[in-house]
Amino acid sequence: MILYFSGTGNSRFAAERIAAVTGDSTVSLNERIRCHDETAIENETRLIFVTPTYAWRLPRVVEAWIEKTALPHSAEAYFILTCGDSAGNAAKYAQKLCARKGLRFMGLRCVVMPENYIAMFDAPEAQQAKAIVKKAVPKIDELGRQIAAGEPLPPQKIGLMDRIYSTAVNPVFYKFVVSAKAFRVDEACVGCGNCANVCPLGNITLQNGKPVWGKACTHCMACICLCPAEAIEYGTNSVGKPRYRCPET
Ligand SMILES: Cc1cc2nc3c(=O)[nH]c(=O)nc-3n(C[C@H](O)[C@H](O)[C@H](O)COP(=O)(O)O)c2cc1C
Ligand code: SF4
Ligand code: SF4
Repeated sequence: MILYFSGTGNSRFAAERIAAVTGDSTVSLNERIRCHDETAIENETRLIFVTPTYAWRLPRVVEAWIEKTALPHSAEAYFILTCGDSAGNAAKYAQKLCARKGLRFMGLRCVVMPENYIAMFDAPEAQQAKAIVKKAVPKIDELGRQIAAGEPLPPQKIGLMDRIYSTAVNPVFYKFVVSAKAFRVDEACVGCGNCANVCPLGNITLQNGKPVWGKACTHCMACICLCPAEAIEYGTNSVGKPRYRCPET
């Protein structure tokens, strides 16, 4: 079974491609996390987690969901992280998580996909995004073949900076950066409710036809990037930047 989490579609796309190779079913963790659905995953010996990279590790919301969810028949777990650049030393933490859950860690690989973090960085323009996704496809398919063959994914080389990013910077990032406070909506908003519907944490409510953000944000960028009117900004950081959604979704 492939369990995926995705803000702007990259990881969903990767999950679906892997599923086409391995024949696994796919399950959206966005839905489960939003509904606080921690129903046990039964009768699945092999789990494949496909997620974005957040601060050089698995997204915390995904890690928390895995911690809380019983996996009584699962023996092994693979992790495929889409990323804009690098997943740092994410493998170390996925391995520890597996040890806590009694799972055999079968490896973690990151696949470079377009950057979606417009609260901090720039997302690529449409043509460039398409080219990045095209380049990622053979890598994703090869990972699918390795998983289908039951092969462990060989570890990637980890440098000092990878360790620093995943170990030291990650907690600082969550403490000081991840917050919905800077989200705002402008007069272009048409009150469609899409932002509220796509938020995987159910963190947005519509009040008088306009979104209001709560405190449970994980900075997935779905609300700001998927607003059809581009009416959402993140402080001034996002002003004038292209919004990102996976071109294959
Ligand atoms: C909160 C946040 C943190 C991120 N941290 C990293 C990172 O540490 N390394 C990296 O290469 N990309 C990082 N990115 C980029 C995403 O991992 C990447 O664009 C991913 O493919 C998005 O997947 P999605 O479309 O499935 O949400 C980050 C994006 C967000 C929103
Ligand atoms: S998705 Fe955009 S247009 Fe629709 S309610 Fe949210 S902010 Fe307004
Ligand atoms: S409020 Fe926006 S950025 Fe935060 S979790 Fe929800 S959709 Fe993602």
